[in-house]
Amino acid sequence: MFQYEEKKFTIPDLKGLSEKQLTVHLGLYAGYVKHVNLLREKIHELEAEDREKHAYTISELRRRFGFEFDGMRMHEYYFEQFEHGSTPLTTNGTLQKAVSEKYGSWESFLEHFATVGMTRGVGWSVLYCDPRGKTPASPYGVGEPHTAWIGDHELGVLAGLPVILAMDMWEHAFMVDYTPSEKKKYIDAFFENLNWGTAEKRLDQEKT
Ligand SMILES: [Fe+2]
Repeated sequence: MFQYEEKKFTIPDLKGLSEKQLTVHLGLYAGYVKHVNLLREKIHELEAEDREKHAYTISELRRRFGFEFDGMRMHEYYFEQFEHGSTPLTTNGTLQKAVSEKYGSWESFLEHFATVGMTRGVGWSVLYCDPRGKTPASPYGVGEPHTAWIGDHELGVLAGLPVILAMDMWEHAFMVDYTPSEKKKYIDAFFENLNWGTAEKRLDQEKT
């Protein structure tokens, strides 16, 4: 049966995020990959044994799949953004222009993204780009940017929209280094270590 494999990320020393914090977090990501595989195996196993007898259990395992799968995939988006170290945004690049137009300025976007990240509870602050929101007159060739909050890993995901930037706001993402009331310091550290080239590449792939 097909198996997902844990991805390895080339992440240098980060500013404001310790090696221990990163190691703990990568370990958690590995757990999601393991559980995606495990969940699929378990469903197949129960189906082979007795589909009717285990119908209720199988349904409940299926309900759980989005949590494990999105937990795996969202962390891949997250860690990729730190690969090869902090890299500045391209001035007047597509990402800056399209997002600044939507939010008034690049700084307003950063502020808004951080505010969404401060939403109570665990989840993700995500910048999406909606390809179906693109008008023929779009000067940037990309769709409408949306910033959204995802609860857990899977509640509030916008269907079919590519992720441009993902910030993990589960407490496990920062509690080795920061207390819950220091969430904002973690958000600052997240921005400080970002390779903006990764987010720009994701948006460029959406150009038609
Ligand atoms: Fe996480």
